Amino acid sequence: MPAKDENIVGIDIGTTKVITLIGTVDKNNVLRIKGSGISGSKGIKKGLIIDINEASRSILESIEMAEKSTKAFVDSAYIGVTGKHISFLSNLCEIDINSPNNIIRKSDVDRLISMANRVSISPEHEIIHTLIKQFIVDGEKGIIDPIGLSAGKLAVELLAIYGTTSLINNIVNSVKANKIGIKDIIVEALASSEAVLTPEEKESGVILLDIGGGTTDVAIYKNKKMVFTHSLPVGGDLITNDISIGLNIPFLRAEEIKKKFANVDYNFYDTLNRINIGDIKIDSNRTTLNIRLYNIVNCRVKELLNLVKEKIEGYDFMHRVPCGLVLTGGTSLLKGIAPLASSIFNLPVRLGAPYDIDGPPEVINNPIYSTGVGLLKYACQLENYVNISQIGEKKEKNNFARKFREFILKILKNESR
Ligand SMILES: Nc1ncnc2c1ncn2[C@@H]1O[C@H](COP(=O)(O)OP(=O)(O)OP(=O)(O)O)[C@@H](O)[C@H]1O
Ligand SMILES: [Mg+2]
Repeated sequence: MPAKDENIVGIDIGTTKVITLIGTVDKNNVLRIKGSGISGSKGIKKGLIIDINEASRSILESIEMAEKSTKAFVDSAYIGVTGKHISFLSNLCEIDINSPNNIIRKSDVDRLISMANRVSISPEHEIIHTLIKQFIVDGEKGIIDPIGLSAGKLAVELLAIYGTTSLINNIVNSVKANKIGIKDIIVEALASSEAVLTPEEKESGVILLDIGGGTTDVAIYKNKKMVFTHSLPVGGDLITNDISIGLNIPFLRAEEIKKKFANVDYNFYDTLNRINIGDIKIDSNRTTLNIRLYNIVNCRVKELLNLVKEKIEGYDFMHRVPCGLVLTGGTSLLKGIAPLASSIFNLPVRLGAPYDIDGPPEVINNPIYSTGVGLLKYACQLENYVNISQIGEKKEKNNFARKFREFILKILKNESR
C-alpha cells in the first residue's frame, strides 16, 4: 500500500461526468476517500475525447472541486480509459524446465513471462495491461503459483489488453493540459471490477457490466483472473434519446423522466395506469403515455443487453459464470433492470457498487463511483509493489525500462489477487 496518509488520485473521465477522487490507505489498510469532485462532461463521447479543450476544462473542474473538498493539491493521477478501441488478446508461451530435480524457480517464471510479453500488435496500438490468466504445468491447467513445483514444461497464458495509441494519447493529453502528471492508465472495466466484485465472485466466475451513459464495459472473471473484457459504445444516453424523440420532449426533461419514472420490470407494466409521469403536454391520456414510456425504455434496454449477451456468447463464457451478472454504472440504477437482465441472460443478477471503503455517503454504494473508486483500489495495489521495489531497485528513467517495470508490476499485482 502507499505510505500511510499519502494521497492517491484517480480520475474517471466518463461520457456524462468526470469524477476525481483523492484517497489514502488508513492504518487498517482500508481505502479512505478524503475528497471528491464531480463535473458534467463536455467534449467526451463514448469514452473518447471529441474536443480536447472542453474535455480538459471538465477535468480541471472536477480536480479543483476535489482539491477544495479536502484541501489537498493534485499534481498527478491515475486515469481510466475505455471505448470500443480497447481490446484484448491471449498469448500462450511455454519453456522447458532444466533446473536440478526440475523444480520451477522464480527465474524460470521471470524468463517465461518476459518471453510471453513479446506480444505482437499493430503499430497503432499499445498494450495497457498484461495480466496472467493461468500457468500450465506439464499440461495441468489453472495453476496460480508454479514456483517450487516439479515439471518438465511450464507455460503461461497472458491476457494482453490494448488500445489505440492516438485515442489513449487524447485522454492523456486532456489531463496533462492541466499540468497533471499521469501515474498510469487503467482500463475502466478492470477498475470497476476492483471496486464492486467480491473475491468469491472472481474465483467462481462472474460477468461485470458497467453500464454508463455512453459505454457498456464488460469484464469476465474466472479462477480469480480476468479472462475477457470489451467495451460497447452503448449506454443510458441512448435510452434518454429515445424517450426524448418518442415523447417529443427535450433531452434534459427526458433524462429526468427516465430517472424518476422509467421501470423495465415486467411486473411494473400492470401498475402503469396508476402512475402520473408529470406535465408532458402531448395528446395522450396518462395510461397511454406510461405505456409508451415503458415500451420505449424496455425496447432499448433489451436491445442493449442482448448486444452484450451476443458478444459474450461469441466467446463461449455464458455457462462458466455461476455467480452470474453484476451490474454497475449509472444505468444500473434504472428501475427493474436486474430482473430484466436476469431473464435475458438466464443468470442470477445483482446490483454492484463500491464497497469495503471508507468515505462520504455519496460515494459508498453509489454505482456511478465504481470506476473512480476502482482506479484508487487498483492504484493502491500497484503502489504497494512500488514501495516494495524501493528496497532493492531504483526508479528507471528511460521509457523502455519504465514500461517494462510497469508490465512486471502489473503482473505481480494480478498474481497477488
Ligand atoms: N436513477 C437512474 N435511473 C436510470 N438511469 C440513471 C439513473 N441515474 C443515472 N442514470 C444514467 O446513468 C448514466 C450515467 O452513468 P455513469 O455516470 O456511470 O456514466 P459515465 O461514466 O459518465 O459514462 P461512460 O462510462 O459510459 O463513459 C446516464 O445515462 C444516466 O441517465
Ligand atoms: Mg463510466
